[in-house]
Amino acid sequence: MELCVALDLPSAKENLTLAESLKSYNVWMKVGFRAYIRDGKPFIEALKAINPNFKIFLDLKLYDIPNTMADAAEEIAKLGVDMFNIHASAGAVAMKTVMDRLTPYENRPLVLAVTALTSFDEANFQSIYEKSIDEKAEQFAKMSYENGLDGVVCSTFESRAIKNATSDKFLTLCPGIRPFGEDAGDQQRVATLELANEEGVDYPVVGRPIYKDSDPQQKVEEILNVISTF
Ligand code: C5P
Repeated sequence: MELCVALDLPSAKENLTLAESLKSYNVWMKVGFRAYIRDGKPFIEALKAINPNFKIFLDLKLYDIPNTMADAAEEIAKLGVDMFNIHASAGAVAMKTVMDRLTPYENRPLVLAVTALTSFDEANFQSIYEKSIDEKAEQFAKMSYENGLDGVVCSTFESRAIKNATSDKFLTLCPGIRPFGEDAGDQQRVATLELANEEGVDYPVVGRPIYKDSDPQQKVEEILNVISTF
């Protein structure tokens, strides 16, 4: 299990200060909409300058027509990040087109597909997808697996079923982790680290419980201590 820290702070300076305080730890840095739209490629470069070994997950959740997604995927590969994601509901053709386009890239980034956003509760999810979260997440995961993706973004509660339906090696990255039962915020399906471990989660994503803590570095250390016992 590898911790992924969401850099969702209001300025590049604050995100880089957080990254700086975590530079001696083996953690993933998650760069999302807020940071990437505001700070772009120079921000990725600044993270690498802090620690060239930081693994970077670009969480832009691509969703467009297949060719446009593949064009974007190629630009992401050129950025030199280690992981990015697309929306599974973009469909099988989009998945295949993206993966085909990345074939020439040695050390291509890992590609994950978002199944059901962790902010959905069952009723809101069904009002859009007309199936239960469990059922649809598994269907999206199988489609992702069959089209050569490396894994999915899901909640902890779907992780085990997804691995059973695909492969144990098919990666699950799960936001909505509240390591020590912190406030859920807008997340509907939250889990502790212990539960994430039981459900086979590969990458727990933690944002607010770290960056809103009075001592984020200490918090990361506490999380890594728990992970080291698994
Ligand atoms: O602050 P919190 O720990 O809830 O942060 C979760 C992070 O994971 C946010 O950056 C959010 O955008 C992201 N995310 C999510 N649900 C998904 C995919 C990504 O919460 N399905």
